[in-house]
Amino acid sequence: MTTAPFEARVADRSAVVAVLGLGAVGLPLARAFAQAGLRVLGFDTDREKLARLAHGRGAPAHLGADFARELLATGRFEPAADFERLGECDAALVCVPTPLTPGQEPDLSDVLAAARTLARGLPRGALAVLESTTWPGTTRGPFAAAFRDAGRVPGADVLLAFSPEREDPGRAIDVRTVPKLVGGTCQESLRAATALYAAAFERVVPVSSAEVAEAAKLLENVYRAVNIALVNELKVAFHALGVDPGEVVDAAATKPFGFQRFTPGPGTGGHCIPIDPHYLAWAARAAGVPLPLVASATRVNAAMPAYVVDRAELALASQGRTLRGARALVLGLAYKADVDITAESPALRVLAELAERGARAAFSDPHVPQAPASALLQPEARTSVALDAQALESADVVLVVTDHAAFDLDLVSRHARLVVDARRALEGRMRGDPRYFQA
Ligand SMILES: NC(=O)c1ccc[n+]([C@@H]2O[C@H](COP(=O)([O-])OP(=O)(O)OC[C@H]3O[C@@H](n4cnc5c(N)ncnc54)[C@H](O)[C@@H]3O)[C@@H](O)[C@H]2O)c1
Repeated sequence: MTTAPFEARVADRSAVVAVLGLGAVGLPLARAFAQAGLRVLGFDTDREKLARLAHGRGAPAHLGADFARELLATGRFEPAADFERLGECDAALVCVPTPLTPGQEPDLSDVLAAARTLARGLPRGALAVLESTTWPGTTRGPFAAAFRDAGRVPGADVLLAFSPEREDPGRAIDVRTVPKLVGGTCQESLRAATALYAAAFERVVPVSSAEVAEAAKLLENVYRAVNIALVNELKVAFHALGVDPGEVVDAAATKPFGFQRFTPGPGTGGHCIPIDPHYLAWAARAAGVPLPLVASATRVNAAMPAYVVDRAELALASQGRTLRGARALVLGLAYKADVDITAESPALRVLAELAERGARAAFSDPHVPQAPASALLQPEARTSVALDAQALESADVVLVVTDHAAFDLDLVSRHARLVVDARRALEGRMRGDPRYFQA
């Protein structure tokens, strides 16, 4: 199948791009193509989200208050509720969730639903690119099978490729400047996908197969998960040895080669680091290869919220108190600084653990007024409390779990009776203070 007509439409900017899934990944991608001069139709199964976007609202907060308005102002983006309109599109980019099942296995139901929708709606010769993070073999395997089941022939009347998204919510970086990996399921799909992304991205990196691109994305995130686990595990050891883990990391990071800084913390959160190792481990297991290092890293990171609470117990014991019956105030519910995302947030597990051990726990987060409905929290712990002198003074222990820039740390250092800091946020202000404990 020749890709020349497709490439010509990309080159003269008459190609229309569909983005399926208008979330943290799909929206910046839609903007990148709209800015490149292509028309973008944005599809989502969430009708309310589409309606908000059509009014210039409803983008995730970390993208900025004006994101949706500016996207509409390009004049090239249109939210589309009717999947029939896929018939207008030359290419479709799939940015739907890839969560885990309750048994911690890959849940591809959204990806497969999107593939079935595309198989019905995309015209002959169109390109479909999976962007959702997934195990190596997904694009050529179940994604392609959904097309075949609908009578489409990958490589003959539809082209399938994989290109991983490399978003990092809260990081002020334009996606167009991040090199874009592209892997095809055949030479033509690689060619078409490379041409498409080259229209919007500064650098496209073609690789030999969809599987390489799928695996590279998992390597990037598993690399982070394992290294975060390493510094978390060593943090616990250094605390026991009476050495300041943060200072150790600072010292090691002065080496100009052979060391990359990773920061110990309360555990991992968000859509990627806690989830993606399970995708890789599942695929490797199915191929008969267990991944003990990856499994161990997952366990170490998952144990960190309980360790933070252990440190709160220790801190209270220094004042002759117990956690049972104590009032605990957790600073930050989001999984990392300056975003409003609570998916897999370690703060949720810190709160649950505090409650399990008999503390009366509350949280304060300027970006998260309300805990997500799915969180297993005491009713009184579901709403963010204002961070003021009274809230701080009435807490027996304050746990810093997320280091939002919006927190008034001077206020915390003045009024908190006891601080357990999982982010080194108050180190400069409180180091040496008997009220101050690292976690
Ligand atoms: N968030 C990140 O930082 C990040 C970074 C890199 C990769 N990823 C990966 O990108 C993918 C998307 O993540 P996200 O954070 O943007 O998710 P998200 O939850 O923010 O957005 C996904 C959107 O897809 C929509 N959707 C679900 N099924 C659909 C379907 N069949 N058709 C159309 N729309 C559908 C949902 O309504 C939602 O609006 C996941 O695989 C994730 O692992 C995420």
